[in-house]
Amino acid sequence: MNFAPTLFGWFIEKTFFSLLLGNLGQSKKLNNFDIHSCFCPQTIITFLITFGIWKIVLIMSKKVLMVCLGNICRSPLAEGILKSKVGEDAIVDSAGTAGYHVGHLPDERSIEVAKLNDVDITNQRARRISPSDFEEYDYIYAMDEENYNNLIAMAKNDTQRSKVRMIMNELYPNENIDVPDPYYGGDNGFKNVYKMLDQATDKILEKL
Ligand code: 4NP
Repeated sequence: MNFAPTLFGWFIEKTFFSLLLGNLGQSKKLNNFDIHSCFCPQTIITFLITFGIWKIVLIMSKKVLMVCLGNICRSPLAEGILKSKVGEDAIVDSAGTAGYHVGHLPDERSIEVAKLNDVDITNQRARRISPSDFEEYDYIYAMDEENYNNLIAMAKNDTQRSKVRMIMNELYPNENIDVPDPYYGGDNGFKNVYKMLDQATDKILEKL
């Protein structure tokens, strides 16, 4: 698990604010405190350096994209479950290969099964995968073989293709097991999807 962003965030906050307060305190002691002391060269340089480091750390942290067909059943669950485990140590999002449900909330059965497990996915809205996702994300997890094949067809080069994986291969390498599409089924399909994704995201967590 990647703790770097959290630790760096703490370090940067401490460094920056202690220097800023130090500058202000110094000005106060000299009886010439005014707002312009916030913008002295020392403070500005500290600001630029610390936020530069912060940006680099953010870029270094892993980005994961979960992908299914409609982005309303499986991938929102995968996103929500992984986020609930990883906190802010990685960037996690989800998308669909089709655009039927763009802008929609996750399916109410996904929301329900997530809620039963204390995971809230109601802040998510469906979107369609875009070519820039293949640049932006480090791992692109397909929920099933059909979506995997569509993603591979969309990827522009070997680097982009190497990011695309079948999510259940994290647990069962090379077996290419699908997370079954629960859209036309009953609630049990959603419970099964949740269980599979819970196990797969535990494995993903080990490599972030
Ligand atoms: P998902 O499920 O790919 O897991 O979001 C589906 C959602 C909608 C449809 C198919 C699958 N649909 O045909 O509208």
